[in-house]
Amino acid sequence: MAKIVKLISKNCGKIVPGSVEDYVKAGGYTGLRKAMKMDPQEIIEEVKKSNLMGRGGAGYPTGKKWEQAYANPRRPEYVVCNGDEGEPGTYKDRLILSQDPLRLIEGMTIAAYVFNIKEGYIYVRGEYLDLKDTINDAIKNAEEANYLGKNILGSDFSFHIQVVWGAGAYVCGENTALLESIEGKSGRPRKKPPFLTRVGLHQAPTLLQNVETYSNISYIVEHGGEKYHSYGTEYSGGTKLVCLSGNIANKGVYEIPFGTPIREIIYEIGGGIPGGRNLKFVQLGGSSGSCFKDEKLDTPMCYKALKDAGLKLGSGALLVIDDSNCVIDFLKCITEFFIHESCGKCTPCREGNTRIFELLDKLSKGIAGKEDMDRLCEISDLMKKTSFCGLGQAATTALTDCIKYMKDEFLEHIEGYCRAGVCNMSGKEKI
Ligand SMILES: Cc1cc2nc3c(=O)[nH]c(=O)nc-3n(C[C@H](O)[C@H](O)[C@H](O)COP(=O)(O)O)c2cc1C
Ligand code: SF4
Repeated sequence: MAKIVKLISKNCGKIVPGSVEDYVKAGGYTGLRKAMKMDPQEIIEEVKKSNLMGRGGAGYPTGKKWEQAYANPRRPEYVVCNGDEGEPGTYKDRLILSQDPLRLIEGMTIAAYVFNIKEGYIYVRGEYLDLKDTINDAIKNAEEANYLGKNILGSDFSFHIQVVWGAGAYVCGENTALLESIEGKSGRPRKKPPFLTRVGLHQAPTLLQNVETYSNISYIVEHGGEKYHSYGTEYSGGTKLVCLSGNIANKGVYEIPFGTPIREIIYEIGGGIPGGRNLKFVQLGGSSGSCFKDEKLDTPMCYKALKDAGLKLGSGALLVIDDSNCVIDFLKCITEFFIHESCGKCTPCREGNTRIFELLDKLSKGIAGKEDMDRLCEISDLMKKTSFCGLGQAATTALTDCIKYMKDEFLEHIEGYCRAGVCNMSGKEKI
Protein backbone atom coordinates (compact mmCIF):
# COMPACT_ATOMS: atom_id res chain seq x y z
CA MET A 1 0.00 0.00 0.00
CA ALA A 2 1.53 3.31 -1.08
CA LYS A 3 2.34 5.67 1.75
CA ILE A 4 2.69 9.41 1.95
CA VAL A 5 5.40 10.41 4.43
CA LYS A 6 5.57 14.07 5.28
CA LEU A 7 9.09 15.04 6.32
CA ILE A 8 9.49 18.26 4.36
CA SER A 9 5.88 18.89 3.39
CA LYS A 10 4.47 18.49 6.91
CA ASN A 11 3.85 22.21 7.42
CA CYS A 12 2.32 22.80 3.99
CA GLY A 13 -1.22 24.04 4.40
CA LYS A 14 -0.86 23.90 8.19
CA ILE A 15 1.05 27.09 9.06
CA VAL A 16 1.04 30.68 7.86
CA PRO A 17 3.80 30.59 5.22
CA GLY A 18 6.80 32.62 6.37
CA SER A 19 5.54 33.13 9.94
CA VAL A 20 8.53 32.45 12.21
CA GLU A 21 6.20 31.98 15.16
CA ASP A 22 4.22 29.25 13.39
CA TYR A 23 7.34 27.66 11.93
CA VAL A 24 9.11 27.47 15.29
CA LYS A 25 5.96 26.11 16.97
CA ALA A 26 5.96 23.35 14.34
CA GLY A 27 9.55 22.45 15.27
CA GLY A 28 11.29 24.77 12.80
CA TYR A 29 14.81 26.09 13.43
CA THR A 30 15.65 23.16 15.75
CA GLY A 31 17.98 21.98 12.97
CA LEU A 32 19.80 25.32 12.74
CA ARG A 33 20.14 25.63 16.52
CA LYS A 34 21.64 22.12 16.64
CA ALA A 35 23.88 22.76 13.61
CA MET A 36 25.38 25.85 15.21
CA LYS A 37 26.62 23.71 18.09
CA MET A 38 28.18 21.19 15.69
CA ASP A 39 31.48 21.12 13.88
CA PRO A 40 30.89 21.79 10.11
CA GLN A 41 32.48 18.46 9.23
CA GLU A 42 30.03 16.64 11.54
CA ILE A 43 27.17 18.24 9.60
CA ILE A 44 28.69 17.13 6.30
CA GLU A 45 29.00 13.63 7.76
CA GLU A 46 25.26 13.57 8.57
CA VAL A 47 24.38 14.80 5.07
CA LYS A 48 26.57 12.03 3.65
CA LYS A 49 24.87 9.42 5.84
CA SER A 50 21.45 10.63 4.72
CA ASN A 51 22.25 9.67 1.10
CA LEU A 52 20.40 12.80 -0.01
CA MET A 53 20.74 13.07 -3.77
CA GLY A 54 20.30 16.49 -5.37
CA ARG A 55 16.64 16.94 -6.22
CA GLY A 56 17.15 19.29 -9.21
CA GLY A 57 17.40 16.47 -11.73
CA ALA A 58 20.97 15.26 -11.97
CA GLY A 59 20.81 13.39 -8.63
CA TYR A 60 24.38 14.14 -7.53
CA PRO A 61 24.99 13.09 -3.88
CA THR A 62 24.70 16.22 -1.74
CA GLY A 63 27.05 15.00 1.01
CA LYS A 64 29.74 14.27 -1.56
CA LYS A 65 29.30 17.72 -3.12
CA TRP A 66 29.66 19.36 0.31
CA GLU A 67 32.66 17.22 1.23
CA GLN A 68 34.43 18.08 -2.02
CA ALA A 69 33.62 21.76 -1.64
CA TYR A 70 34.90 21.73 1.95
CA ALA A 71 38.14 20.06 0.89
CA ASN A 72 38.88 22.76 -1.73
CA PRO A 73 41.60 25.19 -0.63
CA ARG A 74 39.13 27.97 -1.49
CA ARG A 75 35.73 27.14 0.03
CA PRO A 76 32.39 28.28 -1.44
CA GLU A 77 31.66 31.97 -1.02
CA TYR A 78 28.02 31.93 -2.12
CA VAL A 79 25.03 29.72 -1.35
CA VAL A 80 22.67 29.68 -4.33
CA CYS A 81 19.26 28.07 -4.45
CA ASN A 82 17.89 26.89 -7.77
CA GLY A 83 14.18 27.70 -7.79
CA ASP A 84 13.89 27.99 -11.55
CA GLU A 85 11.61 24.94 -11.76
CA GLY A 86 11.02 25.18 -15.50
CA GLU A 87 10.53 21.48 -16.23
CA PRO A 88 6.96 21.05 -17.50
CA GLY A 89 4.72 19.20 -15.05
CA THR A 90 7.00 20.07 -12.13
CA TYR A 91 5.68 22.25 -9.32
CA LYS A 92 7.18 20.73 -6.18
CA ASP A 93 9.55 23.63 -5.42
CA ARG A 94 6.56 25.90 -5.69
CA LEU A 95 4.94 23.96 -2.84
CA ILE A 96 7.85 24.77 -0.51
CA LEU A 97 8.32 28.34 -1.74
CA SER A 98 4.64 29.13 -1.36
CA GLN A 99 3.76 27.18 1.78
CA ASP A 100 6.91 26.69 3.84
CA PRO A 101 9.65 29.07 2.61
CA LEU A 102 11.34 29.16 6.03
CA ARG A 103 12.24 25.47 5.62
CA LEU A 104 14.25 26.39 2.54
CA ILE A 105 15.77 29.43 4.26
CA GLU A 106 16.76 27.31 7.27
CA GLY A 107 18.40 24.71 4.99
CA MET A 108 20.35 27.40 3.14
CA THR A 109 21.42 28.96 6.46
CA ILE A 110 22.77 25.62 7.69
CA ALA A 111 24.68 25.24 4.39
CA ALA A 112 26.06 28.77 4.83
CA TYR A 113 27.09 27.96 8.41
CA VAL A 114 29.02 24.85 7.22
CA PHE A 115 31.14 26.93 4.82
CA ASN A 116 30.97 30.23 6.74
CA ILE A 117 29.30 31.89 3.76
CA LYS A 118 27.91 35.39 4.12
CA GLU A 119 25.81 35.78 0.98
CA GLY A 120 23.05 33.70 -0.52
CA TYR A 121 20.67 33.94 -3.45
CA ILE A 122 17.33 32.34 -4.17
CA TYR A 123 16.78 32.32 -7.92
CA VAL A 124 13.09 31.97 -8.71
CA ARG A 125 11.45 31.53 -12.10
CA GLY A 126 9.69 34.63 -13.41
CA GLU A 127 6.39 32.77 -13.66
CA TYR A 128 6.29 32.50 -9.85
CA LEU A 129 6.18 36.28 -9.34
CA ASP A 130 2.95 35.84 -7.38
CA LEU A 131 5.16 34.39 -4.59
CA LYS A 132 7.25 37.56 -4.29
CA ASP A 133 5.64 38.85 -1.09
CA THR A 134 5.58 35.40 0.54
CA ILE A 135 9.31 34.83 -0.05
CA ASN A 136 10.34 38.40 0.83
CA ASP A 137 8.23 38.35 4.00
CA ALA A 138 9.77 35.03 5.07
CA ILE A 139 13.28 36.50 4.68
CA LYS A 140 12.30 39.67 6.55
CA ASN A 141 10.65 37.71 9.35
CA ALA A 142 13.66 35.39 9.71
CA GLU A 143 15.95 38.44 9.91
CA GLU A 144 13.76 40.14 12.51
CA ALA A 145 13.77 36.97 14.61
CA ASN A 146 17.60 36.80 14.28
CA TYR A 147 17.55 33.46 12.43
CA LEU A 148 19.02 35.24 9.40
CA GLY A 149 21.09 38.37 8.81
CA LYS A 150 23.71 39.77 11.16
CA ASN A 151 25.05 37.73 14.10
CA ILE A 152 22.56 34.90 13.81
CA LEU A 153 21.31 33.75 17.23
CA GLY A 154 23.88 36.04 18.87
CA SER A 155 26.86 34.31 17.22
CA ASP A 156 29.65 35.63 14.96
CA PHE A 157 27.94 34.00 12.00
CA SER A 158 26.12 36.37 9.60
CA PHE A 159 24.28 35.34 6.47
CA HIS A 160 22.07 37.39 4.12
CA ILE A 161 19.75 36.16 1.38
CA GLN A 162 18.65 38.05 -1.73
CA VAL A 163 15.96 36.91 -4.14
CA VAL A 164 16.64 37.10 -7.88
CA TRP A 165 13.80 36.71 -10.36
CA GLY A 166 14.33 34.93 -13.66
CA ALA A 167 12.64 36.11 -16.83
CA GLY A 168 10.99 32.81 -17.67
CA ALA A 169 13.76 30.91 -19.49
CA TYR A 170 13.91 27.15 -18.90
CA VAL A 171 17.65 27.06 -19.65
CA CYS A 172 18.29 29.32 -16.62
CA GLY A 173 17.63 26.24 -14.48
CA GLU A 174 20.93 24.88 -15.79
CA ASN A 175 23.28 25.84 -13.00
CA THR A 176 25.84 27.86 -14.98
CA ALA A 177 23.18 29.69 -17.02
CA LEU A 178 21.49 30.52 -13.71
CA LEU A 179 24.69 32.13 -12.41
CA GLU A 180 25.09 34.12 -15.65
CA SER A 181 21.54 35.35 -15.12
CA ILE A 182 22.24 36.39 -11.51
CA GLU A 183 25.29 38.28 -12.79
CA GLY A 184 22.97 40.24 -15.07
CA LYS A 185 24.07 38.56 -18.29
CA SER A 186 21.91 36.68 -20.74
CA GLY A 187 21.20 33.23 -19.30
CA ARG A 188 23.34 30.91 -21.39
CA PRO A 189 25.29 27.90 -20.11
CA ARG A 190 29.02 28.09 -19.44
CA LYS A 191 31.51 25.39 -20.30
CA LYS A 192 31.91 22.75 -17.56
CA PRO A 193 34.36 21.91 -16.01
CA PRO A 194 35.29 23.93 -14.03
CA PHE A 195 32.36 23.00 -11.79
CA LEU A 196 30.63 25.55 -9.61
CA THR A 197 32.27 24.50 -6.37
CA ARG A 198 35.54 25.72 -7.97
CA VAL A 199 34.40 28.56 -10.26
CA GLY A 200 30.87 29.79 -9.74
CA LEU A 201 29.16 33.10 -9.08
CA HIS A 202 31.45 36.08 -9.82
CA GLN A 203 34.16 33.47 -10.51
CA ALA A 204 34.14 32.42 -6.83
CA PRO A 205 33.45 28.88 -5.58
CA THR A 206 29.69 28.47 -5.14
CA LEU A 207 27.38 25.95 -3.55
CA LEU A 208 24.23 25.57 -5.64
CA GLN A 209 21.37 23.20 -4.85
CA ASN A 210 17.72 22.80 -5.65
CA VAL A 211 14.90 24.11 -3.38
CA GLU A 212 13.88 20.58 -2.35
CA THR A 213 17.49 19.58 -1.62
CA TYR A 214 18.06 22.47 0.83
CA SER A 215 14.63 21.88 2.34
CA ASN A 216 15.74 18.43 3.55
CA ILE A 217 18.79 19.71 5.41
CA SER A 218 17.15 20.84 8.66
CA TYR A 219 15.43 17.44 9.08
CA ILE A 220 18.74 15.63 8.46
CA VAL A 221 20.63 17.74 10.99
CA GLU A 222 17.86 17.53 13.58
CA HIS A 223 17.16 13.79 13.34
CA GLY A 224 20.46 12.50 11.94
CA GLY A 225 21.38 11.26 8.49
CA GLU A 226 20.68 7.62 9.27
CA LYS A 227 17.12 8.31 10.36
CA TYR A 228 16.49 10.26 7.16
CA HIS A 229 18.10 7.54 5.05
CA SER A 230 15.92 4.87 6.68
CA TYR A 231 12.78 6.23 5.00
CA GLY A 232 14.16 5.40 1.55
CA THR A 233 16.21 2.66 -0.06
CA GLU A 234 19.87 1.72 0.17
CA TYR A 235 20.74 3.96 -2.77
CA SER A 236 18.19 6.74 -2.34
CA GLY A 237 17.81 8.27 1.08
CA GLY A 238 14.61 9.72 2.47
CA THR A 239 11.59 10.96 0.60
CA LYS A 240 10.81 12.63 -2.71
CA LEU A 241 8.23 15.18 -3.71
CA VAL A 242 6.52 13.83 -6.83
CA CYS A 243 4.20 15.83 -9.06
CA LEU A 244 1.31 14.04 -10.74
CA SER A 245 -0.22 15.51 -13.87
CA GLY A 246 -1.89 14.57 -17.14
CA ASN A 247 -4.66 11.96 -17.31
CA ILE A 248 -4.73 11.15 -13.62
CA ALA A 249 -7.47 11.64 -11.06
CA ASN A 250 -5.55 13.17 -8.14
CA LYS A 251 -3.18 15.73 -9.63
CA GLY A 252 -0.85 17.33 -7.12
CA VAL A 253 2.41 17.12 -5.20
CA TYR A 254 2.91 14.15 -2.84
CA GLU A 255 5.85 13.26 -0.61
CA ILE A 256 6.61 9.57 -0.96
CA PRO A 257 9.36 7.43 0.55
CA PHE A 258 11.94 6.27 -1.99
CA GLY A 259 11.25 2.68 -2.99
CA THR A 260 7.54 3.17 -3.72
CA PRO A 261 6.68 1.49 -7.04
CA ILE A 262 5.52 3.87 -9.78
CA ARG A 263 2.34 1.81 -10.20
CA GLU A 264 1.31 2.50 -6.58
CA ILE A 265 1.98 6.20 -6.99
CA ILE A 266 -0.21 6.38 -10.09
CA TYR A 267 -3.04 4.06 -9.08
CA GLU A 268 -3.20 4.43 -5.29
CA ILE A 269 -1.99 7.96 -4.53
CA GLY A 270 -2.97 9.35 -7.92
CA GLY A 271 -6.28 7.49 -8.07
CA GLY A 272 -5.60 6.08 -11.56
CA ILE A 273 -6.83 7.19 -14.94
CA PRO A 274 -10.25 8.83 -15.04
CA GLY A 275 -13.02 8.12 -17.54
CA GLY A 276 -12.34 4.39 -17.87
CA ARG A 277 -9.48 5.01 -20.32
CA ASN A 278 -6.34 2.89 -20.54
CA LEU A 279 -2.79 3.92 -19.83
CA LYS A 280 -0.82 4.64 -22.97
CA PHE A 281 2.51 5.65 -21.44
CA VAL A 282 4.12 7.64 -18.65
CA GLN A 283 6.76 10.33 -18.83
CA LEU A 284 9.02 10.62 -15.80
CA GLY A 285 11.02 13.73 -14.93
CA GLY A 286 9.47 16.40 -17.14
CA SER A 287 9.66 17.02 -20.88
CA SER A 288 13.32 16.00 -20.99
CA GLY A 289 12.51 12.74 -19.20
CA SER A 290 12.03 9.13 -20.26
CA CYS A 291 8.77 7.66 -21.54
CA PHE A 292 7.76 4.08 -20.76
CA LYS A 293 4.79 1.77 -20.90
CA ASP A 294 3.01 -0.49 -18.44
CA GLU A 295 5.87 -3.05 -18.29
CA LYS A 296 8.05 -0.68 -16.23
CA LEU A 297 5.35 0.50 -13.81
CA ASP A 298 6.55 -1.80 -11.04
CA THR A 299 9.94 -0.10 -10.96
CA PRO A 300 10.48 1.42 -7.51
CA MET A 301 11.15 5.14 -7.26
CA CYS A 302 14.84 4.84 -6.46
CA TYR A 303 17.77 6.30 -8.39
CA LYS A 304 19.44 2.90 -8.77
CA ALA A 305 16.32 0.87 -9.64
CA LEU A 306 15.28 3.49 -12.19
CA LYS A 307 18.76 3.54 -13.71
CA ASP A 308 18.74 -0.25 -13.96
CA ALA A 309 15.41 0.01 -15.80
CA GLY A 310 16.90 2.58 -18.21
CA LEU A 311 14.97 5.46 -16.62
CA LYS A 312 15.89 8.69 -14.85
CA LEU A 313 14.03 10.30 -11.97
CA GLY A 314 14.80 13.85 -13.15
CA SER A 315 12.65 16.40 -11.37
CA GLY A 316 10.24 13.73 -10.08
CA ALA A 317 7.32 14.71 -12.31
CA LEU A 318 5.02 11.90 -13.45
CA LEU A 319 2.96 12.73 -16.52
CA VAL A 320 0.29 10.13 -17.23
CA ILE A 321 -0.92 9.82 -20.82
CA ASP A 322 -4.03 7.83 -21.67
CA ASP A 323 -5.02 6.19 -24.95
CA SER A 324 -7.01 9.20 -26.18
CA ASN A 325 -3.68 10.88 -26.97
CA CYS A 326 -1.50 10.54 -30.04
CA VAL A 327 2.20 9.96 -29.50
CA ILE A 328 3.19 12.13 -32.49
CA ASP A 329 1.01 14.99 -31.26
CA PHE A 330 2.56 14.64 -27.79
CA LEU A 331 6.08 14.77 -29.22
CA LYS A 332 5.21 17.82 -31.32
CA CYS A 333 4.13 19.66 -28.14
CA ILE A 334 7.37 18.75 -26.38
CA THR A 335 9.50 19.73 -29.35
CA GLU A 336 7.76 23.10 -29.65
CA PHE A 337 8.68 23.67 -26.01
CA PHE A 338 12.36 22.94 -26.70
CA ILE A 339 12.39 25.13 -29.82
CA HIS A 340 11.06 27.95 -27.69
CA GLU A 341 13.50 27.32 -24.85
CA SER A 342 16.70 26.62 -26.79
CA CYS A 343 19.07 29.48 -26.00
CA GLY A 344 20.54 29.31 -29.51
CA LYS A 345 24.17 29.08 -28.39
CA CYS A 346 24.93 25.81 -30.19
CA THR A 347 23.83 24.52 -33.60
CA PRO A 348 22.70 20.96 -32.75
CA CYS A 349 20.05 22.19 -30.33
CA ARG A 350 19.10 25.42 -32.11
CA GLU A 351 18.65 23.74 -35.49
CA GLY A 352 18.00 20.16 -34.38
CA ASN A 353 14.79 20.84 -32.48
CA THR A 354 13.31 22.68 -35.45
CA ARG A 355 14.23 19.88 -37.88
CA ILE A 356 12.74 17.31 -35.48
CA PHE A 357 9.53 19.32 -35.33
CA GLU A 358 9.32 19.48 -39.14
CA LEU A 359 9.64 15.70 -39.39
CA LEU A 360 7.04 15.11 -36.67
CA ASP A 361 4.75 17.55 -38.44
CA LYS A 362 5.12 15.52 -41.64
CA LEU A 363 4.19 12.39 -39.69
CA SER A 364 1.15 14.09 -38.20
CA LYS A 365 -0.02 15.10 -41.67
CA GLY A 366 0.49 11.63 -43.08
CA ILE A 367 3.13 12.77 -45.56
CA ALA A 368 6.24 11.27 -43.99
CA GLY A 369 8.15 8.33 -45.42
CA LYS A 370 10.28 5.62 -43.79
CA GLU A 371 13.41 7.67 -44.55
CA ASP A 372 12.01 10.40 -42.25
CA MET A 373 12.09 7.96 -39.35
CA ASP A 374 15.79 7.35 -40.02
CA ARG A 375 16.34 11.09 -40.15
CA LEU A 376 14.57 11.55 -36.81
CA CYS A 377 16.87 8.98 -35.18
CA GLU A 378 19.97 10.46 -36.83
CA ILE A 379 19.26 14.05 -35.72
CA SER A 380 18.26 12.93 -32.24
CA ASP A 381 21.50 10.98 -31.86
CA LEU A 382 23.53 13.95 -33.08
CA MET A 383 21.79 16.29 -30.62
CA LYS A 384 22.44 13.95 -27.70
CA LYS A 385 26.12 13.64 -28.58
CA THR A 386 26.99 17.19 -29.59
CA SER A 387 24.72 19.70 -27.84
CA PHE A 388 26.54 22.07 -25.53
CA CYS A 389 24.32 21.60 -22.46
CA GLY A 390 21.77 19.26 -20.92
CA LEU A 391 18.86 20.98 -22.65
CA GLY A 392 19.84 19.90 -26.15
CA GLN A 393 21.30 16.60 -24.92
CA ALA A 394 17.99 15.57 -23.32
CA ALA A 395 15.50 17.28 -25.65
CA THR A 396 14.93 14.07 -27.64
CA THR A 397 14.88 11.57 -24.77
CA ALA A 398 11.09 11.23 -25.12
CA LEU A 399 11.36 10.87 -28.89
CA THR A 400 13.91 8.07 -28.64
CA ASP A 401 11.82 6.23 -26.03
CA CYS A 402 8.59 6.65 -27.98
CA ILE A 403 10.23 5.26 -31.12
CA LYS A 404 11.54 2.36 -29.04
CA TYR A 405 8.23 1.48 -27.40
CA MET A 406 5.63 2.75 -29.90
CA LYS A 407 7.25 2.33 -33.30
CA ASP A 408 4.04 0.79 -34.67
CA GLU A 409 2.27 4.11 -34.17
CA PHE A 410 4.95 5.98 -36.12
CA LEU A 411 4.60 3.46 -38.95
CA GLU A 412 0.80 3.85 -38.87
CA HIS A 413 1.25 7.60 -39.39
CA ILE A 414 3.43 6.87 -42.40
CA GLU A 415 0.50 4.83 -43.69
CA GLY A 416 -1.80 7.81 -43.03
CA TYR A 417 -3.55 6.47 -39.94
CA CYS A 418 -3.70 8.02 -36.44
CA ARG A 419 -5.21 5.49 -34.02
CA ALA A 420 -6.17 8.19 -31.49
CA GLY A 421 -7.87 10.18 -34.24
CA VAL A 422 -5.98 13.30 -33.16
CA CYS A 423 -3.87 14.00 -36.27
CA ASN A 424 -5.41 15.57 -39.33
CA MET A 425 -4.12 13.43 -42.17
CA SER A 426 -5.45 15.69 -44.91
CA GLY A 427 -1.92 16.15 -46.25
CA LYS A 428 -1.94 12.54 -47.47
CA GLU A 429 -4.73 13.19 -49.97
CA LYS A 430 -2.87 16.15 -51.43
CA ILE A 431 0.14 14.04 -52.45
C1 LIG B 1 18.26 22.60 -19.13
C2 LIG B 1 18.38 22.34 -17.67
C3 LIG B 1 17.41 22.84 -16.81
C4 LIG B 1 17.52 22.62 -15.44
N1 LIG B 1 16.55 23.12 -14.63
C5 LIG B 1 16.66 22.98 -13.29
C6 LIG B 1 15.69 23.55 -12.42
O1 LIG B 1 14.72 24.16 -12.84
N2 LIG B 1 15.87 23.37 -11.08
C7 LIG B 1 16.96 22.70 -10.57
O2 LIG B 1 17.11 22.62 -9.37
N3 LIG B 1 17.86 22.14 -11.37
C8 LIG B 1 17.75 22.27 -12.71
N4 LIG B 1 18.72 21.74 -13.52
C9 LIG B 1 19.87 21.02 -12.89
C10 LIG B 1 20.92 22.03 -12.39
O3 LIG B 1 21.83 22.30 -13.44
C11 LIG B 1 21.70 21.51 -11.19
O4 LIG B 1 22.18 20.22 -11.47
C12 LIG B 1 20.90 21.44 -9.90
O5 LIG B 1 20.21 22.65 -9.64
C13 LIG B 1 21.85 21.14 -8.75
O6 LIG B 1 21.14 21.06 -7.53
P1 LIG B 1 20.90 19.67 -6.81
O7 LIG B 1 22.24 18.98 -6.68
O8 LIG B 1 20.34 20.03 -5.49
O9 LIG B 1 19.97 18.89 -7.65
C14 LIG B 1 18.63 21.91 -14.91
C15 LIG B 1 19.60 21.39 -15.78
C16 LIG B 1 19.48 21.60 -17.14
C17 LIG B 1 20.53 21.03 -18.03
S1 SF4 C 1 22.07 22.82 -25.93
FE1 SF4 C 1 23.06 24.63 -26.83
S2 SF4 C 1 21.45 25.90 -27.75
FE2 SF4 C 1 20.47 24.34 -26.43
S3 SF4 C 1 20.16 25.45 -24.55
FE3 SF4 C 1 22.11 24.35 -24.33
S4 SF4 C 1 23.68 25.78 -25.03
FE4 SF4 C 1 21.69 26.61 -25.67
